Amino acid sequence: MIPWASPQAQFRAHETAIRQAVDRVLTGSAYVMGPDVMNFERAFAAYLGAAHVAGVASGTDALILALRAFGIGPGDEVITVAHTAVATVSAVLAAGATPVLVDVEPDFYTIDPAAIEAAVTPRTKAIIAVHIYGQMADMDAIVPLARRLKLTLIEDCAQAAGASHRGRRAGSIGDAACYSFYPTKNLGGIGDGGAVASNDGDFIARLRRLAQYGWDENRKTQGIGVNSRLDPLQAAILSAKLPHLDADNARRAAIAARYSQGLDNLGLTVPMVRADSRHVFHLYVIAADNRVALMAALAKAGVGSALHYYPAIDRQDGYAQRVTVLGGGLPVTTRLSERIVSLPMYPELSDADVDAVIAAVRASLA
Ligand SMILES: Cc1ncc(COP(=O)(O)O)c(C=O)c1O
Repeated sequence: MIPWASPQAQFRAHETAIRQAVDRVLTGSAYVMGPDVMNFERAFAAYLGAAHVAGVASGTDALILALRAFGIGPGDEVITVAHTAVATVSAVLAAGATPVLVDVEPDFYTIDPAAIEAAVTPRTKAIIAVHIYGQMADMDAIVPLARRLKLTLIEDCAQAAGASHRGRRAGSIGDAACYSFYPTKNLGGIGDGGAVASNDGDFIARLRRLAQYGWDENRKTQGIGVNSRLDPLQAAILSAKLPHLDADNARRAAIAARYSQGLDNLGLTVPMVRADSRHVFHLYVIAADNRVALMAALAKAGVGSALHYYPAIDRQDGYAQRVTVLGGGLPVTTRLSERIVSLPMYPELSDADVDAVIAAVRASLA
């Protein structure tokens, strides 16, 4: 069986360094916060080209805390997409704000800048641009739009560790960037973890207070907060893996190129890469007209596949009632959600595995 994701393969690839990192924390002085967290925050900030990084407990918390640290909450609207992990939208709701969901671009599946402008109201406070599947949203259009409309721009980089546009990394462009270190992510831990990156030191200080009970650096409270900390075990593991992120991403891109070549001329839609951008292929997602038959044939051939994401969030129970969608609906998102299929994607896939997946797809469509 070739699974669609394999955090275990990542563990095996980095096993010695991960075991050493865990051992260092076990025999060290801090089981909460401490030097491993601080060292990872510094290393990740340097990697991203951002001034500050604060570790938190998950990517969802990163988004919730970023919204709250920007003062966004009840009565405010946040524009984002329905074509994303539910966490993006659940975070807006958890912050007490209203998600306004707009459509995505048909070629790149990221937020459509024209749709953002059409959805702005006097209550709009922020945009969350999701860099979906490892490809950055159209930041050339979105950054000036956010500045002109005086909206806070948050990058959801959960799927885009290492992605860049015109040489600038995801996380160094908007007002804040939120990362997830969920095990399948391009930079994944052995458990949950997340981080917020920003060039705004005051914002990061507010976010750190919110993430630790409301404490300031002297453990005096300034308002209330929650407990959302990056665990030192995860920080140590992430520090061990960070030096390999670029090589892992290069391998992902090579796998994607092999897939796209092998799946040519089959009537499938393969991923498009934005000009001047580095797509880091967190997922390799094709679109097919008869995906039910395709997924069944793949399963029979021992190839895992998955749906990211179906149904789109504007049609999911519990969310549909709580989000705002403008009159025209989300035609691109809806059609996409009915056709997408995620094929196996992780750096440890061999060329032979990739060729076996290609052969299984070709056989199912023959
Ligand atoms: C786009 C996106 N945003 C947010 C999240 C939330 O991250 P986490 O699972 O670490 O809370 C995820 C991952 O699931 C994601 O893919």
